[in-house]
Amino acid sequence: MSFPATRLRRLRQQSHLRALIRETDVASARLILPCFVRPGHNIKRPIAALPGHFHWSPDRLAKTLGRVRQQGITALLLFGLPRRKDARASEAYDPHGAVQETVRRLKDRDPALVVMTDVCLCGYMRHGHCGVVQRRHPRTVNREPFTIDNDATLELLAKVAVSHAEAGADLVAPSDMMDGRVKAIRQALDHRGYTHVGILSYAAKYASAFYGPFREAADSAPQRGDRRSYQMDARNVREALREVALDLDEGADLVMVKPALPYLDVIAAVRAKFPVPIAAFQVSGEFAMIKAAVARGWMNEPSAVMESLTAIKRAGADLIITYFAQAAARQLRHQRMR
Ligand code: PBG
Ligand code: ZN
Repeated sequence: MSFPATRLRRLRQQSHLRALIRETDVASARLILPCFVRPGHNIKRPIAALPGHFHWSPDRLAKTLGRVRQQGITALLLFGLPRRKDARASEAYDPHGAVQETVRRLKDRDPALVVMTDVCLCGYMRHGHCGVVQRRHPRTVNREPFTIDNDATLELLAKVAVSHAEAGADLVAPSDMMDGRVKAIRQALDHRGYTHVGILSYAAKYASAFYGPFREAADSAPQRGDRRSYQMDARNVREALREVALDLDEGADLVMVKPALPYLDVIAAVRAKFPVPIAAFQVSGEFAMIKAAVARGWMNEPSAVMESLTAIKRAGADLIITYFAQAAARQLRHQRMR
């Protein structure tokens, strides 16, 4: 039956009625706040590329945890910066690195907090790549002057993951996109008795222009070349399903799609095919776009934030990593039905 018998506006007439028929809800319990930590004491330094975000020293982030929890944030994803970079990413698996120290302090203060750690090498390598750089093999088809040594990288990634687990991380999140890293990490964790530590795999991570502000914040931009030999091509979605299938087979507990808003179709495709928890990363460039438009008076920030998070959930994400986690949680606390 169609118009005039059918009128979809009937159910939109008042706010509580609209609320009753909502298909999608954003909840603070599903949001994860990214935090940047660096070695030192009593540091809280604004990050120019990510307005409202800071470089924290482990002690200072731990000190502010009470406030963050009060805001309704229950989960953090930690990114670390080293004192020094080298060719083996040594500080990435240093038991006294910034991430490891922060995890210990956070879990000491609040064991119920879910602490996730980004596992990668780019911020710790002088060359800024996510894996071990090797001079180009003379017989490869690759015309670049160097390649990333996949299997040599796995060893280092496993060491990083184990060091985060030792410190008390609940979940480790490999973001490098090497083949076989989930399996290597799962085996290393199990071998050391960390069978309870989970893996949130950046399964479908695209080579994207939207990581710009993050690379400035994490000082992790590649010195030469780009990441297209390991991150996915924006044109591909079937390949994302293969990446997800492989990571699940290797032992991933949750899988991530990244970026989020430009890749809603990928989230939906993964949702349709796999009965597993899906995380989406609303990345730094997505945050920057909204912030920049708001700064010019072209968008209303609270509305744009909630609409983008809702869209990501509607596409099929269960959890969302977002630089707007605190702002969204604040909105959800004071939500007046509209
Ligand atoms: C590094 C890493 C990146 C992000 C998360 N981990 C950048 C990259 O791959 O170059 C992006 C996060 C963001 O843009 O917010 N492996
Ligand atoms: Zn990386």
